[in-house]
Amino acid sequence: MKGKSHPRNDLTLNPSGNESIFDIIGRLDVSRRRFVQGSASATMLAAAGGITLSGIVNTVEAAEASLVVGIGFDAIPPSLAPVADVVSVPPGYTAKLLVAWGDPIMPGGVAYKADASNTAAEQAKQYGMHTDGMHFFPFPSRGQVLSDRGILCANNEYTHEEVLFPAGQTGSDVLGAGYNIEKCRKSQSAHGVSIAEIRRVNGKWNTVPGSVYGRRITANTPMRVAGPAAGHALMKTSEFNVTPTGSLATGKITDGTTANGTVNNCANGITPWGTYLTCEENWNGNFGATAALPTAATEAGKLFSRYGVVAAGFGYRWHTVDPRFDLAVNPNESNLFGWVVEIDPLDPKSVPVKRTALGRFKHESAQYVVDRSNQLAFYMGDDERNEYIYKFVCAGKFNPGNNAANRNLLDDGTLYVARFDADLTGTWLPLLPETLGVNGVALRDNPNFIGANDAEVMAKILIKTRMAADAVGATMMDRPEWTGARPRLNGNDEIEVYCTLTNNNRRGTSAASSNKIDGSTTAASARPPVDAANPAEDNIYGHIIRWREDGKSVLATEFTWDIFVQCGDTATIKAAKLTNNYQGNINDTPDGSADIGAPDGLWFDPFGRLWVQTDQIGNATGDWINIGANSLSCADPVTKQFRRFLTGPNKCEVTGITMTPDGKTLFVGIQHPGEDAMAANPTAFSNWPASQWATRADGVTPLPGGRPRSGVVVITKNDGGIVGA
Ligand code: FEO
Ligand code: CA
Ligand code: CA
Repeated sequence: MKGKSHPRNDLTLNPSGNESIFDIIGRLDVSRRRFVQGSASATMLAAAGGITLSGIVNTVEAAEASLVVGIGFDAIPPSLAPVADVVSVPPGYTAKLLVAWGDPIMPGGVAYKADASNTAAEQAKQYGMHTDGMHFFPFPSRGQVLSDRGILCANNEYTHEEVLFPAGQTGSDVLGAGYNIEKCRKSQSAHGVSIAEIRRVNGKWNTVPGSVYGRRITANTPMRVAGPAAGHALMKTSEFNVTPTGSLATGKITDGTTANGTVNNCANGITPWGTYLTCEENWNGNFGATAALPTAATEAGKLFSRYGVVAAGFGYRWHTVDPRFDLAVNPNESNLFGWVVEIDPLDPKSVPVKRTALGRFKHESAQYVVDRSNQLAFYMGDDERNEYIYKFVCAGKFNPGNNAANRNLLDDGTLYVARFDADLTGTWLPLLPETLGVNGVALRDNPNFIGANDAEVMAKILIKTRMAADAVGATMMDRPEWTGARPRLNGNDEIEVYCTLTNNNRRGTSAASSNKIDGSTTAASARPPVDAANPAEDNIYGHIIRWREDGKSVLATEFTWDIFVQCGDTATIKAAKLTNNYQGNINDTPDGSADIGAPDGLWFDPFGRLWVQTDQIGNATGDWINIGANSLSCADPVTKQFRRFLTGPNKCEVTGITMTPDGKTLFVGIQHPGEDAMAANPTAFSNWPASQWATRADGVTPLPGGRPRSGVVVITKNDGGIVGA
């Protein structure tokens, strides 16, 4: 076990003279230490011989009863290079493959073909590629909910084009010569959301391939656009007839209330009325342009720059055969992406709705909280370097007894962005026409949002959410990923929300610059100095921040916060920086035994355990030589003790997590195993899940090898108990 004999971090956090957490704690108004109260003062720590990073953060700890349920397994070791091409879980647990890319999940679906020769039409009825955020919706029965039957909604974030087709993106194969519309349609059909009925029979979990609930939502599924931005001129785009062989412009312009498809569906959320939320993250990469994009002097060009839209996209090439994604001819199409999309998993015919009130950015996830007054808010991160954390507060109250009354709660409310102040308090800044920017100019008078009336101003604020957040002085964060709310159990009634800040290699690096308040910053181009909420320069391992709403109300405009953990490698040999020793302060026994970096997935189970998933290179090289492959860890929110629960196969990301209501079945997503392989050798880095199992969890469906497949693992405890207990 590494790390045990490694010297503990005793570097001062910030000997440079700049403000550090130590400074902040030292001058805290004692009366405000509701969240950060501790038994040892900073002065006492200093007198004890030096302020350690772990010492500070462990002292900044609310005094609470220990988590009653605890963590009942021992940490498994890191999966070091060469990374075993398997999913590993603790002794006493069993992991099996529930469903993988290409498995049929709806009526008319055909079996996965191991050479990737399934057509676009076949893919459109199969589980999508690169599984991500997901949720298990149990079926009700006799006033209860079932833990052995329900619907799994899962995002399919993106595609690995070299593995998606037999001869790769541009080779010639059964899907045609070179890059063509059939490959484009298959790629589009592998994106989106997969909705599958799953059930456990005789102890074996399986999908129900012909289920009437089975559904695929893809990059081409017709959708409705709702909320304050619906119908705005920026949302009106060329109308297309989308067919298997091409997207044919009708010559008409839409009315701005319709859209086709959802892409780059990263993490997720749910609503308390039982719908699924899928979050559009790196949608900019799915677009491209066959001619130069407008310059940043134009409204469209400024939007492209702020959201990272470039002519080459991420290399998908959709725009070369599908003009809907060609921004040179159809620039407003991109404004239809970057939203949270609501889907009713129980109604396969329902039209998904893009809820514009929740803002437009690179949405990671959406965590809801209903407070004791039935007020409802959603907490959301914008995952890009130096972007922001948001919450949307519904104007109406959640009505627990009347789901019809909740149907349009997501269309009316207030979007806020977070400012984290150095005194460990924070403010939710409303993004409204009357809100004053840091330059004293109301958003309605800001050139970016000027409109005929406040309704138009509001539409522009939502379409250009990042620019509005720039204007009001939100805090630039180290890539906000998943948000999670701690269950209010065991006497804890605080509204306590956590957010992973996965990394930021531009934090604290020279020369310092900040997002410009006029919204003209090119996405991810700033190099902000360290601040209280993002205190590690060159923050390659990331951290987790958390906050509590004042008054235990989601309506609060003030909150208190602290850093839950700074991730790192206890045994690193990297030279420390002034405000980053790269070792972090993960609380694990022995020290270093549960180190993680690049936290991404974050989720509280109903029992109050915190689960954290990681997204780093995944082959245990470079900065990850001691931390190993990507992982899922379990943490106690009170003691902050971390234990590694799962390690993934080579070059995968571990992302997506959900559980049955009884806590006895855990579902975990394994995304992009064998990333970076080329079509000539798809198994260059991974042949998972075939590398681990001969069949799926049903014990019947074969798992042919030949190329790696993203998929969902089902994990149970061998004694039938609650996972994690
Ligand atoms: Fe798709 Fe930010 O992870
Ligand atoms: Ca540690
Ligand atoms: Ca993610």
